[in-house]
Amino acid sequence: MKSVSLSVRHRWLLVPSSWNPARYRVQIFDDGKILHDFVSPLAGSAVEWWASIDLASSMGREITLLSEDDSLFEMIRWSDERPAPSDLYREPLRPLFHFSCRQGWLNDPNGLVWYRGEYHLFYQHNPYFTDWGNMHWGHAVSPDLIHWTELDIALFPDEHGAMFSGCAVWDRENTSGLHSDGSMVLLYTGAKEDSTQCLAHSPDGREFIKYSGNPVIPTIERGNRDPKVFRDHARDRWVMALYVPDGTRHAIHLLSSSDLKLWTPLSRVLGGEGKDTFLFECPDMFPLRWQDEEKWILIGADGQYLIGSFDGAVFMPETGPLRSIFGTSYYAGQTFDSEPRGRRVLVGWLRSPANGMTFSQCMSLPLEMSLAQGDDGPRIALNPVSEVETLWQPAKIWHELSLDEGQREVLAEAMDGFALTIAISGENEGHLALKLGETEFLYGPASRQFSCGETSVRIPGQAPALDIRIYGDRTTLEVFAAGGMIYWPIADAATSRSLSVEARRGRLDLSMISLSGMKSSWPGALD
Ligand code: FRU
Repeated sequence: MKSVSLSVRHRWLLVPSSWNPARYRVQIFDDGKILHDFVSPLAGSAVEWWASIDLASSMGREITLLSEDDSLFEMIRWSDERPAPSDLYREPLRPLFHFSCRQGWLNDPNGLVWYRGEYHLFYQHNPYFTDWGNMHWGHAVSPDLIHWTELDIALFPDEHGAMFSGCAVWDRENTSGLHSDGSMVLLYTGAKEDSTQCLAHSPDGREFIKYSGNPVIPTIERGNRDPKVFRDHARDRWVMALYVPDGTRHAIHLLSSSDLKLWTPLSRVLGGEGKDTFLFECPDMFPLRWQDEEKWILIGADGQYLIGSFDGAVFMPETGPLRSIFGTSYYAGQTFDSEPRGRRVLVGWLRSPANGMTFSQCMSLPLEMSLAQGDDGPRIALNPVSEVETLWQPAKIWHELSLDEGQREVLAEAMDGFALTIAISGENEGHLALKLGETEFLYGPASRQFSCGETSVRIPGQAPALDIRIYGDRTTLEVFAAGGMIYWPIADAATSRSLSVEARRGRLDLSMISLSGMKSSWPGALD
């Protein structure tokens, strides 16, 4: 690699980027210490967009820039302000009310925590291009789970590897001994050939200090990753769920600690084998109320979960693998630590491309979890947190809509973001065909099958009455049915959709349809 020395007089170094699939390695050193090491789709003469690197900590000093492509040295630019496109957060495919990052790639939510009056959302982030790679932890904060402000990147790759997924806790009682008033503690995977679990801490939720004793958990098995920690209040200690493969078998290990730094193995739960992704990656474990009892949930990245009990050391399953999340879009969700209203709130990554944009992917709506009566015992129900309703615009409502076989009614044209509820009551011989833009859903009340494309889901319960709620945004549709026991997010990019309902194979009576536009949750956006 060729190198140049540069003196840093402006905070932001701008890297010329392109849509080119080629990747070039770039490194930045300050005084012999490596600050940044990444691959980038460097642009030669035709710059399609700029990636920006914060060099505030090197201000006034000389840095060394190395690159596999030395045309970079001619092309870089500097700026005092972080550059932003003039339509930032108003780009054509920018989700209106789902979190997405300003630029680059996003996958798993990480470090979800309520800390000193704010919700924090960290996420797997590649700031250099719109595919997976160069894993950092991006960071955003919100007062209400809806309006997010993106902050500086929280964790950069280091000698322990790329910054893979992990969690955050509010260490209120300073069990870690790191800050006398308590702090936010992040536990994450340092990913290289032999991944390890590492710790970072922050008293103010803005600056993150990596622990000098990292890693806190050496490699258990190659590929071990994604620590999720909760406070075991009954025993006054911390418990970690960690993905640790056992050959080709997936498994979640439980470990305990009194100080978040020294961890002792407790037990493990076995998941699927190979391509069977049950309990593969990104575990979470937490209690939910069921009637007068407390049940424990163990959930993996694909959303399959077990219901059981926990005695402080061992998770005892009372069920086989269960599913309340359907389709292929959702992945790698986790729940908030220290949620101030005592709710259990899940956010997942929705695989949802935004082609042609300089960002890609988004998070699910924040989902409140509970247990509800399924056909065969309790099941997880997921419903958007009530704060989402603050984005509803006044609803248009249709009552008692009766359709003859083959009759199709177009109820709306050119919708942007929307919240739709369809209530079906009474016995119906006909099937509902619901079309949103190019995407068609079918529901057969007799078979209780709800389908879209090749995928079909059986709606639990017996009662003929059913409410289907759908949130539509510019890159996703999220379907909720059976009180949330069905949550089905679908990647679907469209800036303008029509809505129609049609009766097939008989008459159909819809008791109510309600349609609200959704406001944007981004700063400065117009309603
Ligand atoms: C899940 C996952 C995690 C890993 C992260 C890397 O999507 O593969 O297991 O920590 O993504 O970005």
